[in-house]
Amino acid sequence: MRLLEDLWRDYVAITPLAGRVHALLEARGERIVNDHVALRTYGVPGFGLATLAAPFEQLGWEARGHYTFPDKKLVARYWQHADPTLPKIFISELVIADLPARAQALISGLVANASFAMGTRPWQVDHATYRALLDDSEYAAWVAAFGFRVNHFTVDVNRLTTVASLAELNTLLRDAGFALNESGGAIKGTPADLLEQSSTRAEEIDVAFSDTTARIPSCYYEFARRYPQPDGTLFQGFVPASADKIFESTDVRR
Ligand code: NI
Repeated sequence: MRLLEDLWRDYVAITPLAGRVHALLEARGERIVNDHVALRTYGVPGFGLATLAAPFEQLGWEARGHYTFPDKKLVARYWQHADPTLPKIFISELVIADLPARAQALISGLVANASFAMGTRPWQVDHATYRALLDDSEYAAWVAAFGFRVNHFTVDVNRLTTVASLAELNTLLRDAGFALNESGGAIKGTPADLLEQSSTRAEEIDVAFSDTTARIPSCYYEFARRYPQPDGTLFQGFVPASADKIFESTDVRR
């Protein structure tokens, strides 16, 4: 599908580790299927969940569950396609009214003369604005720097044939030199939650701000293993407590 191919190409360009993860798994004979693709945005008119979801809904994705993340001032939804080989789309949105006034003003300034386009950062941002947003919300700063690029793709671990568990995959990744997000432990969620997730830490890349270039965390790769529900079908939703920790994969190391 053209939209997903374009988003993958852009994601790998700013997340070289994702290409290395694919190479590692493909060398074992794996064919990678993605469980979900995640996007981030600001909850302001013209840039909210509905705006980001529209291109996917036109291609047949349907809205499913709602989630809230009070600590991170986020709300989120996911969309699922009837074709089970297509990834779910997970979109989160920053609740701007919950931010301090300074951050609200900075975000209003960014979006003032911009219009949404998938896979782009439709505004200029200087490094001081990024740093100021970072003080109030890592998420706000990430969106300022990267815009509507994919935040992460997610390997569907259930479809791997040479790896029996998420713990085994994590060992494989660590042995290959990948740094995992250890916030709350490498594996978020349990079989009882019906979803286990882990992720790499975001790697740092050079990003062009309007006044300078700076090295900051970009995107990460996630890994998800799902378990069957009582009716025998695999759980397709998300676990808020786990996702809350996964968001921290892009935190700046201080
Ligand atoms: Ni995810």
